Amino acid sequence: MIQTRAIVTNIRDLGADYFLLEVESPEIAGASKPGHFVNVLIQDSARVVLRRPIAVFDVKSNRVQLLVKSIGEGTRWISLREPGDVVNLLGPLGKGLFDKTDAKRVIMVAGGVGLAPLYYYLTYYKELNIKTVLFYGARNAKSILFQNELLELTDECVFVTEDGSLGEKGLVTDELRRYYLEHGTAEGDVVFACGPKFMLKQVVDFADAEHIECFVSLESFMGCGAGVCLSCVIPARHYSQDGDKYFKLCTDGPVINSNIIDKRYFEESYAGH
Ligand SMILES: Cc1cc2nc3c(=O)[nH]c(=O)nc-3n(C[C@H](O)[C@H](O)[C@H](O)COP(=O)(O)OP(=O)(O)OC[C@H]3O[C@@H](n4cnc5c(N)ncnc54)[C@H](O)[C@@H]3O)c2cc1C
Ligand code: FES
Repeated sequence: MIQTRAIVTNIRDLGADYFLLEVESPEIAGASKPGHFVNVLIQDSARVVLRRPIAVFDVKSNRVQLLVKSIGEGTRWISLREPGDVVNLLGPLGKGLFDKTDAKRVIMVAGGVGLAPLYYYLTYYKELNIKTVLFYGARNAKSILFQNELLELTDECVFVTEDGSLGEKGLVTDELRRYYLEHGTAEGDVVFACGPKFMLKQVVDFADAEHIECFVSLESFMGCGAGVCLSCVIPARHYSQDGDKYFKLCTDGPVINSNIIDKRYFEESYAGH
């Protein structure tokens, strides 16, 4: 894990409260893999004490890109950075997932800002020449980002909007089901998903029913990002060998095989995160 003062090289306002921040950090760029995240120190704020976790969106040579949705004080601070500013980063954090090179077909399901951790996986699988199919849903056309890039990166790409202003109208999980009805399951299928909990629940239930290996990128409130403070724990389906009934999202995840998560975590009534 590296703590670094990275120089902002670019920031793009993508609309709909989304921003793409690019920083120069040879150390973090060199060590980052899909599934990693960085913890961003929010400066000049008396209220935001904890660093904010943001997925590594992509790496271009010595530069790390972060896709940020501005939803509160911390993410707004990130969105207001300008070229030449310095940002204090801790990373890369998380376990990352590097071993699914035996996948035959990778199905990605992204909801909203859930695209952020999945984009880097798409570039990774493109390099490995493994087929990818992306279902990417958002509220409306303005919130569907990187359309051209995604069409190029994937073998098939289905855009879904709730209001029908771009692509299919409805929910991304309906399109996932429709795809499988048409194409059937195939040996070596792997599903990756990131998005709101109600979407993840449907994806996990579907993958369970179809016996497809499924990985989800989860979110939780985080403190240290390094496995010490326990603020990020998620309930596990079974006890571990050490007798733990929880796992730490920052060090065991944030990308997790869905079969180790206690499904109650996905219920709206779940009292945790
Ligand atoms: C591993 C990981 C990777 C992430 N990657 C990205 C990313 O690539 N891009 C991105 O835009 N966001 C990402 N997030 C979410 C991001 O960290 C939060 O949006 C951010 O911490 C909010 O901080 P804030 O100060 O702007 O908002 P706050 O003022 O702290 O919160 C605004 C609202 O959002 C809710 N909220 C805040 N943080 C979380 C959270 N972690 N989970 C659920 N609800 C929350 C609060 O309850 C509040 O209602 C990631 C989170 C995790 C755990
Ligand atoms: S954030 Fe501290 S243990 Fe995970």
